[in-house]
Amino acid sequence: MPDDKVAAGRIVDLSAGRQRDERAEVVARLLDSPATIAPRWFYDELGCALYGAICRLPEYYPTRTEVALFREHRGAIAEAAGAVRQFVDLGAGDCCKAESWLPFLEPARYVAVDIAAHELRRALDRMAPDFPSVEMLGVVADFQHGLPLDDVLDERAALFFYPGSSIGNFTPREAVAFLREVHGLCKPRPGSGLLIGVDAKKDRALLDAAYDDALGVTAAFNRNALAHLNRRFGFDFALDAFAHRGFYNESAGRVEMHLESKGEQVVRLGGDTVRRFARGERIHTENSYKYAAAEFEALLAEAGFDRVRRWTSPGESYFAFLAA
Ligand code: AVJ
Repeated sequence: MPDDKVAAGRIVDLSAGRQRDERAEVVARLLDSPATIAPRWFYDELGCALYGAICRLPEYYPTRTEVALFREHRGAIAEAAGAVRQFVDLGAGDCCKAESWLPFLEPARYVAVDIAAHELRRALDRMAPDFPSVEMLGVVADFQHGLPLDDVLDERAALFFYPGSSIGNFTPREAVAFLREVHGLCKPRPGSGLLIGVDAKKDRALLDAAYDDALGVTAAFNRNALAHLNRRFGFDFALDAFAHRGFYNESAGRVEMHLESKGEQVVRLGGDTVRRFARGERIHTENSYKYAAAEFEALLAEAGFDRVRRWTSPGESYFAFLAA
């Protein structure tokens, strides 16, 4: 095993030893104009809990829409997926979404991939006793820059599971590159495929509310990225000096989240490095692209998938694609 892989029980950590580059990348993005923070920084322990709360908000429809869509078509989707030996959960989080598939797919292995090691460890400990015949493996990795799973997977048929419309965090170009990587992992493993949940383009009011809820949970989730960076890198962001902005940018086909500086301020980023923010200046923290069915099918085709099936939620609000 290469040095940067630290096996800890059933967990393989592919993110270790990256901290130096991490800081440099985070600082460079903050000094950029406009400043940006990668969405992965939302997901410390509190951030994972806040995301869990978001999924329970009345305004945030994607999670419950996807759950209902999968529940309705679980048997048909599992049958279409065929015999799956390895079930690979990309962005597993608390693993709850995958858990409901295991009895239907009956894989020999469950491979849960996520950036949040704490969440992964807890989830696998919780699940393992319920699925004694399934080999459980956790992989800590940030697959924003690649999907280093070729060594982790064996040669058996794999179903890659990418639910929650997380693909929306990529630009369409990046999404194709990512899908192409998944396709590359499918190709040498006959019978493999991708099951992916994708949020549809819809009415602006619904999207605006979903990303700027009345309770302010999404605002807390957004600002918590600053707390995470403060703790991790010793920055001194004042959380209350930034306002949450979350809205649908219709011409770009995406929801955007930003943190907007309430006044003029200086943030220390370690050493002599400072970032000045003007009043109203924004840090762009997330894109969440929304797709028409045909748009997403074009991305899948471009990535090399030539057999695609689609299931659609009532009102065409959300899609599940099974691609091979
Ligand atoms: C986890 C990326 C699918 O884009 O809807 C929720 C994250 N951001 N509310 C999304 C999120 C604000 C979510 N994904």
